[in-house]
Amino acid sequence: MIDYLNEYKGKNILITGAAGCIGSNLIKALIKAEPAKVIALDDLSSSEKWNIPEAANVVFVHGSILNEEVLKRVFSHRFDFVFHLAAHFANQNSVEHPETDLLVNGLGTLKVLQYSHLTKVPRFVFASSGCSVYGSQAPLPLKEDFVSLHLDTPYQITKLLGELYSNFFHNYYGLPVVVCRYFNVYGPGEIPGKYRNVIPNFIYWALHKKPLPITGTGDETRDFTFVDDVVDGTLRAGIVPEAVGEAFNLASETETKVIDIANMVNKLTGNPNGVKFLPRRDWDRIIRRRASIEKARKVLGYEPKIEISEGIRRVHNWIVGNRNRIEAEAKF
Ligand SMILES: NC(=O)c1ccc[n+]([C@@H]2O[C@H](COP(=O)([O-])OP(=O)(O)OC[C@H]3O[C@@H](n4cnc5c(N)ncnc54)[C@H](O)[C@@H]3O)[C@@H](O)[C@H]2O)c1
Repeated sequence: MIDYLNEYKGKNILITGAAGCIGSNLIKALIKAEPAKVIALDDLSSSEKWNIPEAANVVFVHGSILNEEVLKRVFSHRFDFVFHLAAHFANQNSVEHPETDLLVNGLGTLKVLQYSHLTKVPRFVFASSGCSVYGSQAPLPLKEDFVSLHLDTPYQITKLLGELYSNFFHNYYGLPVVVCRYFNVYGPGEIPGKYRNVIPNFIYWALHKKPLPITGTGDETRDFTFVDDVVDGTLRAGIVPEAVGEAFNLASETETKVIDIANMVNKLTGNPNGVKFLPRRDWDRIIRRRASIEKARKVLGYEPKIEISEGIRRVHNWIVGNRNRIEAEAKF
C-alpha cells in the first residue's frame, strides 16, 4: 500500500478545472494531506464556486487557462504538482461548439504545458478520457496501447490532442507527465445539465418525477467509475516514479447497462414514471465500454472500491442535500 497522501504534505499544487466534479473531489482528498497550498484555478464556465471545498490552504483563482495574465499570475508560484483537469466538457457540447472545444482543450492545454515546462514543474498529470481516445471499434477490455484515429466528436479528438501535446512535452522537454484516462466518472460535485453525465441527470429527472430519457435502447454499457476511485488513481499517478511518460486507464472494470442505471435511480427515488426512449445521438457509436485496469493495478497499486449502487446513493444524497442551489443552477 502506497502512503501517497504523505507525499503531498507541505507541497504546492495547481489544479485547473478545480470547481468541476473531479477537481473538487481531488481538493477534498488533498486537504487531508495538509499541502502547503492548493491553487484552484477555474473560469466557472461549467461549474460553481461553492463546489470548491473551503480550507485555509486552498486559494481559488477565477480565470481561464487561455488568459496569459492569469497564467502568469498563477505560475508565479512554484508548483510541485500540476493536475490539469480544465476542459470544455463533453461530446454533445463539442459537437455544438467545436471551436470553443479546440480552444480550451487544445490551446488551453498547450498553454498550461508551456508554463509548467518553463517553471520546471516536477510532475504534470493530464486528465484524458478513456471514452474518447479508443474510438468505437476497439476490442474489449480496452487496453492502453490501442488508440484510434477514427474518433466521433471534437471532444474525443481534443482529449487525444491533449495527450499528444503532453507526450511531446515529455519526450522533447523532459516534462514529467502522466496521462490518466478516466471512464464515465460520476460522483458528488457534478451539477446536472444539458451537457452533463447520465447519472446526475437521471437523478435530477427522477426527483422531478419525470420519465428518464434514454438515448438508444438502454442496453448500451459504460464503465461507470466513482469519483473517489478516480481521485485515488490520480493521486497515485502524481507520485509513482514509474508512471512518468505513461498513460493509465482509471475505471471500475465493470460494465453496466444504461437501463439498469435508470431502474436503480427510479427505485431509489421512488419515481413511478419509468423511462422514455429517444433516438441515439448520431455521433454516439459506442455500444459497449469496459476498461482493463491491469496496468494501473500493477504500476500504481490502483484498485477501485465503490460499487455502482453505493455510488448512485452518494450522488443522490449530494443532489438532495444541495437541492435548492442545484435547482437554481442546473441548465437544460
Ligand atoms: N467526468 C467524466 O466522465 C470524465 C471522463 C473522462 C475524462 N474526463 C476529464 O476529466 C477532467 C475533469 O472532468 P470533470 O468531470 O470534473 O468535468 P467538469 O466539467 O466538471 O470540470 C471541468 C472544469 O473546467 C472548467 N473550465 C472549463 N474551461 C475552462 C477554462 N478555459 N479555464 C479554466 N477552467 C475551465 C469548468 O468550469 C469546470 O469546472 C476533464 O478534463 C475531462 O475531460 C472526465
